Amino acid sequence: MIKFNYKNADSSVIGSENGLDLSQEFSQYKDTIATIITNLGQRKDMPGQWLQWMNLGDNPETVHQIKEFASKAQGQFESVLVLGIGGSALGGIAVTEALLKPYWNLLTSAQRNGMPKIFFLDNIDPDSINGILDVLDLKKTLVAVITKSGSTAETMSQYMIISDRMRQEMGDDYRKNIVAITDKKTGILRQIADQQGYETFVVPDDVGGRFSVFSAVGLVPFALVGLDIDQIIQGVKDMAVALGNTDINENIAAQGALIQYLMDTQRGKNLSVMMPYSTRLKYISDWYVQLWAESLGKEINNNGQKVNVGPTPIKALGATDQHSQIQLYNEGPNDKIITFIRVENFDTTLEIPKILGDTGIGYLGGKTINALINAEADSTRVALSDYARPTVTLSLDKVDEYNVAQLMYMLEIQTAIAGELYNINTFNQPGVEQAKNYTYALMGRAGYEDVAKTLESKMAMA
Ligand code: PA5
Repeated sequence: MIKFNYKNADSSVIGSENGLDLSQEFSQYKDTIATIITNLGQRKDMPGQWLQWMNLGDNPETVHQIKEFASKAQGQFESVLVLGIGGSALGGIAVTEALLKPYWNLLTSAQRNGMPKIFFLDNIDPDSINGILDVLDLKKTLVAVITKSGSTAETMSQYMIISDRMRQEMGDDYRKNIVAITDKKTGILRQIADQQGYETFVVPDDVGGRFSVFSAVGLVPFALVGLDIDQIIQGVKDMAVALGNTDINENIAAQGALIQYLMDTQRGKNLSVMMPYSTRLKYISDWYVQLWAESLGKEINNNGQKVNVGPTPIKALGATDQHSQIQLYNEGPNDKIITFIRVENFDTTLEIPKILGDTGIGYLGGKTINALINAEADSTRVALSDYARPTVTLSLDKVDEYNVAQLMYMLEIQTAIAGELYNINTFNQPGVEQAKNYTYALMGRAGYEDVAKTLESKMAMA
């Protein structure tokens, strides 16, 4: 199981101005946390609570269907192209970057064990969309269109461009190269998929985008590139059991949530940095940033009061960002809590050759890069605590399906518990609607004529 070390957030290490007396806090919040965990467990099956993602570790039928689909697709496609944005893309990117061999798309088919390359078109930059069309042979590409609502402008415009190009190249056969992952009943993509006869998978009810990585949203692309989705689900399942424990002393997600919450509300650490010491885990930070920001950044609390809460998440990468951000983290404003992710056993052990003898850098010869990266993680953590900066560390035994799934599920539960501590609705995102409506108005969507008029006058003033 993943380990969580919070000593460097404790006042005994970094002093009481910036640290917390954690044993006292854990005992003070013991009942609150137990109530939150019990309550989440009770609400997870209730419609409208948006907690169905807590049940994704127990979904054998969907897992079976996805495996069947992936095994039928095997050998038929050179590439998989995922169309989606936000929660429909970030989990997929994070997991494939973590679990596929590095530089996957540059490997030969034999090096990929015959599995396809994978691309995510998670934005609407015209140059990058055009660029992907230069790279892909659409006849040999399986396109996975992923949108829960089925109407997200970015995803559906990607779909329109790509599917139109496919139809031009392949005629009606293009349909065999599309799989749609969307709501079971509602949305434009569902209608199109039914009309066109695309293969489809369902984004389950009450699973929001940023909590959807272990639904078909993530599992379909993962299975298509040969990842072991049984192990992914096993990781989720085992972590779900561990995090069902209502005792804060035994529950790492509860510990993490409480520390983040108290650091923000009592110690002024309103910036939360996620810093894995593993390039493969780099995109876990992107996924975490969305999870934390969209879930916890809220104007109104559950009592209807205006609160404007939410720590700002920041992504960093060790050791790279030691040469970019750490100066600020050590000596700048003491307003951050940093979460390190540490990998105990890398797949590869790489020795640094003894080729520079007695030069000033010769001491590295004979050591491993593995030892160097973890020494850098330790040194940075200790240096930060010398400057009285709080850090916590999540340690993974290795970067594999089981451990990465555990890590992500733990961070989801940590977010849900933090949301309860802030007393906000973790699962909505009202703050993204206004700009969406303006975009619809600017692009001439029917029903948005009045918004367009208001917008025009606001833009004239700006
Ligand atoms: O977390 C969320 O709910 C959002 O980031 C959505 O995933 C994102 O807006 C994409 O939505 P959809 O899947 O409906 O296209």
